[in-house]
Amino acid sequence: MRASKRLQQIPPYLFAELERKIEAKRAAGIDVISLGIGDPDMPTYEPIVAAAQRAVADPTTHQYPSNRGRREFREAVAAFYARRFGVTLDPETEVMPAIGAKECIFNLNLAFLDPADVALAADPGYPVYAGGPLLAGAEAALMPLEPERGFAPDFSAIAPDVLERARLMFLNYPNNPTGAIVPEGLFEETVGLASDHDVLVVHDNAYSETTYDGYVAPSFLQTPGAKEVGVEVFSLSKGYNMTGWRCAAIVGNADAIADYWRLKSNVDSGLFEGVQLAGAAALGPELDVHVKGMNAVYQRRRDLVCDALRQAGVDVTPPKGTIYIWAPVPEGFESAAAYCEHVLEQAAVVISPGGAYGPNGEGFFRISLTTPDDRLLEAVERLRAL
Ligand SMILES: Cc1ncc(COP(=O)(O)O)c(C=O)c1O
Repeated sequence: MRASKRLQQIPPYLFAELERKIEAKRAAGIDVISLGIGDPDMPTYEPIVAAAQRAVADPTTHQYPSNRGRREFREAVAAFYARRFGVTLDPETEVMPAIGAKECIFNLNLAFLDPADVALAADPGYPVYAGGPLLAGAEAALMPLEPERGFAPDFSAIAPDVLERARLMFLNYPNNPTGAIVPEGLFEETVGLASDHDVLVVHDNAYSETTYDGYVAPSFLQTPGAKEVGVEVFSLSKGYNMTGWRCAAIVGNADAIADYWRLKSNVDSGLFEGVQLAGAAALGPELDVHVKGMNAVYQRRRDLVCDALRQAGVDVTPPKGTIYIWAPVPEGFESAAAYCEHVLEQAAVVISPGGAYGPNGEGFFRISLTTPDDRLLEAVERLRAL
């Protein structure tokens, strides 16, 4: 038995590996604090759970879901985009549920890439931007996000033959793992490049609702011309504490969504309609207060971690969005992975090595804020004591 060459090209998923290591340490009685994966520690907001309970008891949700999405969900997403971003979406053709943003992003690769095609992928970036194209038998071309450019890619640095073959581009702001917000003018520049080179832009909008210091994140679709060249993947995972529910939506270009649907209806059988109804409930204006409350918690944790890191001599910029702190690896370690391994072995704290998000993430580590304050403080204290 041998795995496909496509599969052999990509490394095991970082967090799957880490899970194994953490389990082994905990089984040995070691008190491991995980600041690795970005998985909210607080429960899904109560009104969403209540809506889900009603939806589960409703027999109309019990059969195969409509892959195209239940009307209530599509309309709720469209209403949310109008209210939150001032973006008009046709719930019939411009909105479709996804079984989490990860599913959607991966399947877009299968829907839009042939061998020798290229997906332009932010580096560092969510690992599926680079792994997805390889699993689809195509190529990923990494676009370095440089701190001095506000973590914007430099489109002028993309080789002409790569641009020629580019069919997809993955961007994500507020950005995982760097915490950067979208640099001024980048979305406009992206629309220009995409229409000149016939590239479908996929803006991964996993963190627009998780922002601090009064910053309000835009949608890519607010950019003039964006709907002609792109889609946005909106996830309820982080802003609504719903990672386990697998609830997301793809919105934007109707033709691209129709192709995604064609692919997806051959691959999966849709998102449980009970979850779609819970997602619809989550997006109502009355839930905003819960999102704000959660952001206040993360902002407090962000400040706590950044203060402690600064006191330890680490040069760190408090992010205006996402649930991550991105910080440089201390001197004396040959790689971010070596530092993270050291931290796990000596302090029993899990942090993510920047290199896992692409070569340009090397030299940095990522801390997730999805751990209660006291454990976060304890973890940072352990790092300082190293
Ligand atoms: C940038 C980004 N995109 C997508 C995802 C996955 O979202 P979902 O839970 O909707 O699959 C994550 C999760 O960490 C992420 O950071």
